[in-house]
Amino acid sequence: MTKNDRANFGSKIGVILASAGSAVGLGNIWRFPFETGNHGGAAFILIYLGCVIALGIPIMIAEFLIGRRSRANTAGAYRLLSPGTQWKWVGRLGVLSGFLIYSFYSVVAGWTLEYIVQAVSGGLSGQSTEGFISTFNTFVSNPWRPALWTIAFVLLTHIIIVRGVERGIERSSKILMPLLFILLLVLACCSISLPNAGEGVRFLLQPDFSKVDSKVLLGAMGQAFFSLSLGMGCLCTYASYFRSDTKLPRTACNVAVIDTLVAILAGFIIFPAAFSVGIRPDSGPSLLFITLPNVFQQAFGALPLLAMLLSLLFYVLLALAALTSTISLHEVGTAYLHEEFNFSRKKAATLVTTCCVVLGILCSLSLGVGSHLTLFGMTLFDLFDFVTAKIMMPAGGLFIALFAGWYLDKQIIWEEISNHGTLKVHIYRVLLIGLKYVAPIGITLVFLDQLHVFG
Ligand code: TRP
Repeated sequence: MTKNDRANFGSKIGVILASAGSAVGLGNIWRFPFETGNHGGAAFILIYLGCVIALGIPIMIAEFLIGRRSRANTAGAYRLLSPGTQWKWVGRLGVLSGFLIYSFYSVVAGWTLEYIVQAVSGGLSGQSTEGFISTFNTFVSNPWRPALWTIAFVLLTHIIIVRGVERGIERSSKILMPLLFILLLVLACCSISLPNAGEGVRFLLQPDFSKVDSKVLLGAMGQAFFSLSLGMGCLCTYASYFRSDTKLPRTACNVAVIDTLVAILAGFIIFPAAFSVGIRPDSGPSLLFITLPNVFQQAFGALPLLAMLLSLLFYVLLALAALTSTISLHEVGTAYLHEEFNFSRKKAATLVTTCCVVLGILCSLSLGVGSHLTLFGMTLFDLFDFVTAKIMMPAGGLFIALFAGWYLDKQIIWEEISNHGTLKVHIYRVLLIGLKYVAPIGITLVFLDQLHVFG
């Protein structure tokens, strides 16, 4: 097994595109709005932005440099950079969270496929707001339909991982991602111009810090990790395929900016429309799927064909954005099994797919027939989301920051971020302070706050 053997995924795909493709997905368009809605709006967004800058960017640079330096899967990376130590558990923990995230993520990705079919068949037109809500609820609680879509989505990801049609993805995402961005802009304008949309805009822009509690802090931090694909070795795995002349700090900043812009735009689509038609902002995971059909209907109701085409385009682009994220999640487990256990890539990918199909089906069922089976008061779907975004990924981020800030030789950090001294890097000191102090202390404080240590 040579380095190039495993590079067949990443080496052909544009660096920023691959990383941004991993970062931009359902986390931005589906999860960000509902977490913002659950946590009261503008104040949550400001704290989220703070987390992206203070924790997200430094940790992303750390993941990049660990991955590119070691040129290995995430568990192998720690083994190679710190032989004989226990740091390898950070990588292993990451692989485990990857499985859990992939499982519930593909359920929602499956929902986007259902909505593509609904958009084409006209099932979403001419309904009232209550109609959209009940369509969604009936669909997710159906025992087999969402589960089948989940399987379909995981298999789609599997085929791409095994066949390696990355070139096609690269070429098409160069067109599709900007197209998604433009469509989001158009939809945001439509949403803002709906009657009574002002309240939704205020919800996004007028912070009320009196409502900020430990849940809001944890939610914002978790969302930053989730949205940037951080804390579980995803970007570390991708960085192992980066070229040696890739500029790590700049790539990290670009990815963070693109990812944040998409999330904010999604907020400007969802909330003005939700307030306009009377959907509660704290409707949870259903928020995107019950609000958007309203936007298409209200804004383009007089032109049914246009409404149909735009909603079709939206759900197709959303599914593709989710696909570039599931590919990155799949790749973490596949690279790990392939390199650490010497499975062929195909066998490794099949194992990941099988596990995630089983877990994904369980997550999907937990929203319908299995909804009475709860653990800590949560369904399996909610539990996987909570445990990964709010515990495992921030904990992973904490260890990554400690590893890069305190354990790794500073020479390695310098060489990687300056490409062996060929780049001028102004942020070296700031980065080190971020990794040594700001990120570890910040994450620890948010965790302690959860335990009500501060009253
Ligand atoms: N960041 C992606 C999104 O926003 C989801 C994702 C892909 C992810 N890879 C990840 C989340 C790794 C956490 C860890 O949709």
